[in-house]
Amino acid sequence: MLTYRTAGESHGKAAVALIEGCPAGVRVDIRGINAELARRQGGYGRGGRMKIETDTVEILGGVRRGVTLGSPIVLVVGNRDARIDDLKRTPRVFHPRPGHGDLAGALKYLDPDMRSILERASARETAARVAAGALMRPLLDEVGITVFGHVVSVGGFRACNKWPAASAWLRTRNKSPLYSLDPQADKTMVAAIDAAREAGDTLGGVVEVAAFDVPPGLGSHVAADRRLDARLAAALMSIQAVKGVEIGLGFDAAELPGSQVHDDIGFDPRLRGTASLGYTRGTNNAGGIEAGISNGQPIVVRAAMKPIATLGRPLPSIDIRSKKPHRAAHERSDVCAVPAASVVAENAVSFELAAALLEKTGGDTLKEVTAHLDAYLRMARDV
Ligand SMILES: Cc1cc2nc3c(=O)[nH]c(=O)nc-3n(C[C@H](O)[C@H](O)[C@H](O)COP(=O)(O)O)c2cc1C
Repeated sequence: MLTYRTAGESHGKAAVALIEGCPAGVRVDIRGINAELARRQGGYGRGGRMKIETDTVEILGGVRRGVTLGSPIVLVVGNRDARIDDLKRTPRVFHPRPGHGDLAGALKYLDPDMRSILERASARETAARVAAGALMRPLLDEVGITVFGHVVSVGGFRACNKWPAASAWLRTRNKSPLYSLDPQADKTMVAAIDAAREAGDTLGGVVEVAAFDVPPGLGSHVAADRRLDARLAAALMSIQAVKGVEIGLGFDAAELPGSQVHDDIGFDPRLRGTASLGYTRGTNNAGGIEAGISNGQPIVVRAAMKPIATLGRPLPSIDIRSKKPHRAAHERSDVCAVPAASVVAENAVSFELAAALLEKTGGDTLKEVTAHLDAYLRMARDV
């Protein structure tokens, strides 16, 4: 089973990921991981900290001569925060921020100094998560799966649905300060972020991740924790500040009759060699998953991120020691981290798809993974 666990505090020495269950023989693309880490740090609306960090990954185990060994892999992303480089010296926090983990964590751990909580609740953790997801991208490449994340709205301003041609997606998104596919909407979203910053406020938004050429048969209907939709939803919902997840048509499906929701089934023998195995669908409202199993269509998931809880103009709160009113704590913070969240989401989905793929194929080595997948696809074509 492919799993990962992260460790590390926001102002500690490093964000660390321990990955278990990766087969041997997978190419490790350090430049690719670093590129994703750099994208996570970027995007319009991020705070001062991002400017002083340049995240790069170091591999401490599980890799030899650029390929995985099949043993646990340890990834380390060092913290280069020059302002506070020692966790011990971080100031104590007694004024909980509404919307952050401060108060709930203080009560859970019986600790009035919320620094002990927020250091781990902080989304610095996502550096390790991105590294773990990006590590698995070459495995997905080997079997032809592409995963693409982008921003679809910020602060209620939506990117339009008129997307450029697929061949231009990567270029368009990577040129966009919002990681969107709509340069026109970018201007509105940038202005909205500037206005929020000016007002001491913050903005959330929606990100979308699409995975193409995912073979059918990943995930399972037989048990709750094996459903691919449930696993992708957990991967996205566990990203800090994500408060909603949709698959395919998502919440809109609840408002339409079945005849307008479900995707007609057809067959085109010319497409037998693709991930669809030739089965065509009039629409893809299911988002590529039916009964918790990938159906050969693109997988499409969205996550809604709430606005950042640390406001330039802090909200009313209390001093937890006196219980008297006090403005919430303020730390150097992002005004909008939706673009960064799209990078976290893209890599979290990548990891989950890699895990589902390996569950389907088994195998200690990449050679076995690809051979088993080919054998399965040959059988599925004969169904
Ligand atoms: C990429 C990313 C960056 C974030 N940056 C900040 C930030 O600078 N300040 C902040 O208060 N919250 C930030 N958050 C959100 C908090 O980590 C999150 O709201 C907090 O941990 C509480 O968890 P919850 O919102 O899921 O309840 C960020 C989240 C993500 C995904």
